Amino acid sequence: MYNLKGRVAIITGAGRHNGLGEAMAKRLAADGAKVVLHDIGTLKGDIAPAHGVGQKAELEQIVDEIRKTGGEATGFTGDMLNEVDVADLIDFAVQKFGRLDILVNNAGIGYLFGPLVDMAQEHWDAVLGVNLRGCFFGIKHAAKQMIKQKSGGRIINIASQAAKSGFAQAAAYSASKHGLVGLTRAAALELAVHKITVNAICPNHVTTGLGSWQNDFMSRAQNKSVDQYLADMRARIPIGRPGLTEDIAKACAFLCSDQADYITAEAMNVSGGEEYH
Ligand SMILES: NC(=O)c1ccc[n+]([C@@H]2O[C@H](COP(=O)([O-])OP(=O)(O)OC[C@H]3O[C@@H](n4cnc5c(N)ncnc54)[C@H](O)[C@@H]3O)[C@@H](O)[C@H]2O)c1
Repeated sequence: MYNLKGRVAIITGAGRHNGLGEAMAKRLAADGAKVVLHDIGTLKGDIAPAHGVGQKAELEQIVDEIRKTGGEATGFTGDMLNEVDVADLIDFAVQKFGRLDILVNNAGIGYLFGPLVDMAQEHWDAVLGVNLRGCFFGIKHAAKQMIKQKSGGRIINIASQAAKSGFAQAAAYSASKHGLVGLTRAAALELAVHKITVNAICPNHVTTGLGSWQNDFMSRAQNKSVDQYLADMRARIPIGRPGLTEDIAKACAFLCSDQADYITAEAMNVSGGEEYH
């Protein structure tokens, strides 16, 4: 465990059970941080509704679960595609808890997969919009607040193994996550003078709500059963299993801690050895 007492953290996209956001929020709260859990709250538009989003009631449930274990937590709903919503999220955290020390840019779209030659512009825009532009909005408004406070800060962007390797049928997703690593590096160089570190975490597969949609899609695309697809995945991962939400939460807590104060502009693989570039 790390000591994050007195730190205030925002975790975006943290409104779904079994998601990476939920696990990171619970871990940071257990380490003593006051946490603001964010999610979209309701489905906007009709892009891939079957995949599901973090609904307001589920977000509130997760906030409650943290409070019941003695953590300090609150919830906020807003759309990462909308800069005003993102600026409001930062303001909300500061009004509620007095400051902002940590932003975890986790909200993302990991679906809308399919052949590149058939991809509609609206799907490309949706994926790049949430995964890349939304993180830019988050970094911009969080960094403004952290610079004002003059006590440094931590920004963690949840990228992906698809930030290091390309994936067939996932062109927009791979492009958005590669772009997020570039954004991470540029922001890290610019914000280092303010003692704000900016790092990315690159998980391989984790069976979250989003992850199980990907298992269904990819196993169909490869003409395999889901069981066979998962067995093949385990066989190629040196540690012999896919990631767990806790694996990502541990890496996030480390990067937020004082132990990581000399680490910035990094894109850390958390992949059991599957990805090592
Ligand atoms: N699960 C995996 O295998 C895996 C692997 C690598 C990276 N990731 C990344 O981890 C992050 C979390 O994914 P997860 O697997 O926990 O899935 P998840 O679906 O549980 O979490 C994603 C969250 O983002 C939210 N979101 C989507 N669009 C939004 C918007 N416009 N505004 C606000 N919130 C929005 C969703 O409501 C959802 O709660 C994503 O960025 C994903 O790309 C996941």
